[in-house]
Amino acid sequence: MTAVLEASKISVSFGSVKALVDVDLEVPPGKLVGLIGPNGAGKTTLIDAVTGFVPATGTVVLNGRDISAEPPHVRSHLGLARTWQTLELFDDLSVQENCVVASRRPSTLGTLAQIVLGRRQPTQAAVEEAIRILELEEVAGRMPSELPQGKRKLVGVARALAGQSKLILLDEPASGLDTNESFDLGRRLRRVVDEGVAMLLVDHDMALVLNVCDYVYVIDFGRVLAHGAPAEVRANEKVLAAYLGGVATVTEAAGPEAAGSEPAPAGQSGKAIL
Ligand SMILES: Nc1ncnc2c1ncn2[C@@H]1O[C@H](COP(=O)(O)OP(=O)(O)OP(=O)(O)O)[C@@H](O)[C@H]1O
Ligand SMILES: [Mg+2]
Repeated sequence: MTAVLEASKISVSFGSVKALVDVDLEVPPGKLVGLIGPNGAGKTTLIDAVTGFVPATGTVVLNGRDISAEPPHVRSHLGLARTWQTLELFDDLSVQENCVVASRRPSTLGTLAQIVLGRRQPTQAAVEEAIRILELEEVAGRMPSELPQGKRKLVGVARALAGQSKLILLDEPASGLDTNESFDLGRRLRRVVDEGVAMLLVDHDMALVLNVCDYVYVIDFGRVLAHGAPAEVRANEKVLAAYLGGVATVTEAAGPEAAGSEPAPAGQSGKAIL
């Protein structure tokens, strides 16, 4: 079956810094693929290269079409949506309005919103569907600033989903979330993927990535260090060596039960922060 995303030999340099070197990565249809790696490994740069926000060499193929030469807005029209490491929500609009913002805002914001939202302006039905899948019905009328961080992150995902995208690239959606929130996020991301949307999940939360993803890539210093099913990656000696140099141990811990009754802050028990 044709991959939704096929990125081949992607290289990006910033002056003398080689941020990515010949990275190959695939996201099959209806799958949740994880991308992990230490700080500065090149994860965000890969999302930027795939979405067209940084100049890159190599090829990016989306649903069989070579989009390597296309600008970001064309890629988004073709079904590519992303979130940013620093969550950008419109704080003066409700959750629901954040999801329909492209149709409400005039031209200058329209382009940005289209990039955020994906290939076309969301229909009311698509907005409602995104809110339903992410179980945000109860907060749909609330302002983002009134919501806990975990819910705000979900609004960012809902906004990408509302654009009826074929592939969503998420950059660290679990940052700032505690173990319970992160577990809940993983469950809801899985719901999105089960609806047929392919997803690339970049995160430092090893428990989240290894437990919800179907396949995982590990990059280090801009190169793919390992890739495989979560169990293979968890046992990979190169991965362990790369991470044992830091603070992490690769754990099995996953849900609220694993973390005990008290929610643990990010970076503590039950989460392996790389
Ligand atoms: N605009 C830029 N100009 C110069 N160097 C950059 C730029 N963006 C990223 N880099 C460098 O490219 C490398 C990869 O950075 P990138 O942000 O992709 O890492 P990351 O894996 O997303 O890290 P983190 O986990 O901290 O988010 C780093 O060495 C970084 O300093
Ligand atoms: Mg990053």
